[in-house]
Amino acid sequence: MSKLISLKFGEIKENPCTVEFYEKHGFALIENAVEEDYLNAYESRWLAENGANKDFSGWGHDKAYMDIDEIKDVLCSHKINNFFMSVDIGVALHVSKTDWAPRFITWHIDAAHSHEIGPKNYVGAYVSLGTTDINSGPIQIISGSHKWEMDYKKAFSSPYGMFSNEELEAKRIEMDSDVVTILPERGDAFVWHGRAVHKGTEAVNPEIARKGIVAHYCNRLVSEDFVTNAGGHVPGREMVKQFIHNDSGDDDHFFSKWRTGGYYYPDCTITRTWLQFAHPELGDEVKSISWEELEKRIDVSKRGDLGFLQPDYHPDYHINS
Ligand SMILES: [Fe+2]
Repeated sequence: MSKLISLKFGEIKENPCTVEFYEKHGFALIENAVEEDYLNAYESRWLAENGANKDFSGWGHDKAYMDIDEIKDVLCSHKINNFFMSVDIGVALHVSKTDWAPRFITWHIDAAHSHEIGPKNYVGAYVSLGTTDINSGPIQIISGSHKWEMDYKKAFSSPYGMFSNEELEAKRIEMDSDVVTILPERGDAFVWHGRAVHKGTEAVNPEIARKGIVAHYCNRLVSEDFVTNAGGHVPGREMVKQFIHNDSGDDDHFFSKWRTGGYYYPDCTITRTWLQFAHPELGDEVKSISWEELEKRIDVSKRGDLGFLQPDYHPDYHINS
């Protein structure tokens, strides 16, 4: 059984896989989200291609799912997708992080969008490949932080802009918010709202593996222009219908349906880690350049537009070793 340990109340006994739980806390836990055969196939491929990596690193960048079917088999599970549909979001996989070592990363928010609709349509997931040891650097999340009122526009005004760990911790203290430690079992998926504040804790014992996959999913509503044109949030079923059948006529953001039932982006999507990977010529400048200037400097026509995605980077991100 997966465990959710609240700092204030001890082990959480509520059902963590309901719409009510997700809306109240900003996260949920889906038990047995991925079938054993897919977990086994993924592990075999990971070991064959990454097993020699001494630092437990996986495939080198966060678009590996595009080429590796075993990643999509896990992350596009119909159970995970069904949960997203139950909270009324139609989203597609666009980021996969495949390292098998504990990752230390301080408090942060994944969805770097200054408007309200985008973060609801930008969700994270962690699928565990084993029983999570509390000493292996488990993920923690701040209950209810997805509803905090903060100056998101200011924080995310540049490609690498963000709230600092100190700002988020100060807000947590001000709000007297609860911290929940997530200890998932093999095959369980922990999912979180794009504005939920979370972190990878420092491992007490870095020798203990924390085998799992991190994923991000989203849809076109992360673009403020698209929200304006749509008149607000688009219900999950309507979003999937538009993008699977391409009713939108927007080729850049066409979803594909994977054989295990969920959706993924076969191409497109800009992320901060992808920017670094695909445009090394930008160097350190990428951290301070404005979105407007970036759009003039790189050709984004093949990867969607810059209003689409601006997530997933943190300067403190490193392997616990
Ligand atoms: Fe994150």
